[in-house]
Amino acid sequence: MKAVIYTEYGTPGVLRLQEVAKPTPKENEILIRVAATAVNYGDLIARNFGHISAAEFNMPSPFWLLARLSFGWRKPKNPILGSAFSGEVTAVGNHVKRFGPGDPVWGYTGQNMGAYSEYLCMSEGGTVTIKPANMIHEEAAAVPYGAIMALNILRKVALQPGQKVLINGASGGIGSAAVQLAKFHYGARVTGVCGAPRMDFVKSLGADQVIDYAQEDFTQNGETYDLILDILGKSSFSRCKSSLTPNGIYLLASFKTKQLLQMAWSSLTGRQKLICALASDSAEDLIFIKELVEAGKIKTIIDRCYPLAQAAEAHWYAEKGGKKGVIIIQLP
Ligand SMILES: NC(=O)c1ccc[n+]([C@@H]2O[C@H](COP(=O)([O-])OP(=O)(O)OC[C@H]3O[C@@H](n4cnc5c(N)ncnc54)[C@H](OP(=O)(O)O)[C@@H]3O)[C@@H](O)[C@H]2O)c1
Repeated sequence: MKAVIYTEYGTPGVLRLQEVAKPTPKENEILIRVAATAVNYGDLIARNFGHISAAEFNMPSPFWLLARLSFGWRKPKNPILGSAFSGEVTAVGNHVKRFGPGDPVWGYTGQNMGAYSEYLCMSEGGTVTIKPANMIHEEAAAVPYGAIMALNILRKVALQPGQKVLINGASGGIGSAAVQLAKFHYGARVTGVCGAPRMDFVKSLGADQVIDYAQEDFTQNGETYDLILDILGKSSFSRCKSSLTPNGIYLLASFKTKQLLQMAWSSLTGRQKLICALASDSAEDLIFIKELVEAGKIKTIIDRCYPLAQAAEAHWYAEKGGKKGVIIIQLP
């Protein structure tokens, strides 16, 4: 089968199309023919991880160390990137009960990756379910990463209908899903912060207001929010305090040890809290997201599609920044 592999860390130039052995499902596994996969933040980071220092990594140093050991110290252990996918089951192991050949499925392989490939195997208990009926494979593959991360991060707080939420980084993979979940699932009033060229995109996702981070500092505009979710951690708790309501929460998807200490301190003192959120993933989450997609509460916007053979071009395009929606890799 064809797969895009990388055997050294580096620029998108390290990605190349190659013939590799087709995997065989174990007793509890399903074999999936991948129809579409997405280029997400994790793919760009994993491809270049050998050149990313602990200081450059958006998480505390021990997390960087664990990630480096898991990805491979000198060269990548797992040569095939791609974690979010949509496709079709073509074979199942003897013990598999929930899936059969022909089932249209979508899923998220997390750090196991493996979706830049014509076929991949997953345990039937993994983060894989029947895909939403109202999406084609390209649309479906765009959803799992951002929606699973945003859902798990927002679940750390008890967001109530009518509350005011600001999402800093609203145009990215996690932020664009967080805007839709906050607005259409939780019923919040949403302000999105992003770059000027992405303001219309964020509005189209359902944001009530959009702020261009280059033109306006949201911590200085006099508005207050029940929740400030910062995806990249570009703001700070101290600067955001006056933009939070008295019981407001400052929620971080990216953080360092300093913010973990601030979280511990804020849990003991004061009414405004800082929460550093780590997302997990599960099939239950994906089933829940499938229902939201089918109810029209989460939509997907694709920026560009590339064939598998042009995965390197897809990465070069993603690295330029400024995508409006998800970059998709299509398989024949
Ligand atoms: N906590 C967890 O479990 C978890 C899981 C996965 C990932 N993460 C973290 O999430 C981050 C990746 O998120 P993602 O996939 O959504 O990234 P992404 O798709 O690259 O999006 C980044 C977003 O940040 C915005 N941005 C850039 N500069 C900004 C600034 N100065 N002020 C405000 N916003 C700015 C971008 O806006 P424009 O494009 O409009 O400029 C875009 O909306 C990483 O830091 C990663 O470590 C955390």
